[in-house]
Amino acid sequence: MPVIRSNDINTSSAWAKLHQHQRATRHMHMRQLFEADPHRFERFSIELDGLLLDYSKNRITDRTLELLIDLTDAADLAGWMARMREGEHINVSEDRAVLHTALRMPAEASLAVDGADVVPAVHAVLARLRDFSNAVREGAWLGATGQPITDVVNLGIGGSDLGPLVVAEALAPYASERLNVHFVSNVDGQHIARTLRTLDPQSTLFIVASKSFTTPETLLNAHAARQWLTGVLGEAAVARHFVAVSTNCEAVAAFGIDPANMFGFWDWVGGRYSVWSAIGLPVMLSIGFEHFSQFLAGGHAMDRHFFETPFIRNIPVVLALLGVWYNTFYRAHTHAIMPYDHGLRRLPAHLQQMDMESNGKRVGRYGERLDFDTGPVIWGEEGVNSQHAFFQLLHQGTRLVPCDFIVPMNSHYETGSQHQVLVANCLAQTQALMHGKTESEVLSEMAGMPGDMVDMLLPQKLFPGNQPSNTIALDRITPYSLGMLMAMYEHKVFVQGVIWGINSFDQWGVEYGKQLAKVILPQLSPQLAPAHEHDCSTNGLIGHFRSRHGKH
Ligand code: F6P
Repeated sequence: MPVIRSNDINTSSAWAKLHQHQRATRHMHMRQLFEADPHRFERFSIELDGLLLDYSKNRITDRTLELLIDLTDAADLAGWMARMREGEHINVSEDRAVLHTALRMPAEASLAVDGADVVPAVHAVLARLRDFSNAVREGAWLGATGQPITDVVNLGIGGSDLGPLVVAEALAPYASERLNVHFVSNVDGQHIARTLRTLDPQSTLFIVASKSFTTPETLLNAHAARQWLTGVLGEAAVARHFVAVSTNCEAVAAFGIDPANMFGFWDWVGGRYSVWSAIGLPVMLSIGFEHFSQFLAGGHAMDRHFFETPFIRNIPVVLALLGVWYNTFYRAHTHAIMPYDHGLRRLPAHLQQMDMESNGKRVGRYGERLDFDTGPVIWGEEGVNSQHAFFQLLHQGTRLVPCDFIVPMNSHYETGSQHQVLVANCLAQTQALMHGKTESEVLSEMAGMPGDMVDMLLPQKLFPGNQPSNTIALDRITPYSLGMLMAMYEHKVFVQGVIWGINSFDQWGVEYGKQLAKVILPQLSPQLAPAHEHDCSTNGLIGHFRSRHGKH
């Protein structure tokens, strides 16, 4: 693998030219760009299979895109894309390939990784998942007392929770009416307790979803669930009420789940990229295997677009470059994502993990220190509700917050004109953010008002505008379009990681807190001697817990 020192990117001429270009154009207002070019929408939008990306409301010109594309050359994006696609071990710190794209390949494809074709293995697991999910959905898989399954509880956290949760929620219109799917992730006992409260052990199936099968939160919830079940039905019931999704067969067997009821995946699937694997089992149970296959097909369509389209017309590449433009050259710290679709309301949480766990890093892939900002803070909420919460800051605050607006053109729920109202709100927000409201526009609204009132209110009613946004319009939220959308963001994050020289596929930053929690846990017990080895804040808080717990 050719070694490209990650931190060379900021010494490239493309980088320097982008800095110069930003200085030269930063006072340019998008309002003027639109006035000057009535075809800006056509020129700065891309459509693929019912997914439209409108990126015209950005602080860019043709020259900006040209320079950003030069940056992809400097970072050898084409080379890294090929290395990922072909299964090279681009996750260098863990010496692993990165092949979530292989999970969505059709059965007739092939991809040799480390000497073996992975596609037949992927489809062999898919075939088992199809048979199992069909059996549960059709009522052929029976619980220990002969009852069909009515409730499925996925026990997992992070990538073993957020991806399937988002997909199951978004595709609720396709869900089986006789099977409810629940997700329990938090180690906070109230999450599982509140979920189990209304369920009947005789008709409940648990999926223990953990790539490593060592994640304490998931294992504690799995033990709590097993106790709840066996307390009523006895130990023998575990075989009919527990299945596992993992790469760790030994640990699954040690927990007491028959490996025959385990669905595997591979170390080349990162947790936050794993919804396409057996981790998608709760989704398959909810919407059926055929719909899940369409979700995979949508992801595969986006993969082909990503790998085969010139960068200037390549949706994930363009999105990534726009993000780099603001993050690196405007030093915008955050990026907001607003789905105008109630079913997609948890998408920002999934993208938060996917982006921030991938690119929230201060060193390059070979351990070298990076002298520039990397991954932004990703945040967001469902549209319209967020208008009544934080949009004030977007419109009139002091910060630059690039945004993505995601909106379906059709709803599964035709409730009068409500969908039109939703869409009108979405479009109005992107327009207001871009255009702003000028002094003369505000003054004409205040005609006839006393002068002192005008003086006070004018600055408060001004909207500076020039706030960038992308609009991603889907014809409808279907399994296929959702697959495209989620794969689009995966590739966007990959491209940004390549530009910044990051290994987007490890996550050392989450380990330290886990280590410390193991030290602190026994020290919370009043039976043991109090701890003094920490800083005084942590010692004090441990002492506070010991003195208050169980007494209030
Ligand atoms: O939070 C760290 C992390 O390792 C994530 O990357 C992962 O998605 C999550 O924990 C769950 O891991 P596992 O599937 O191994 O339980």
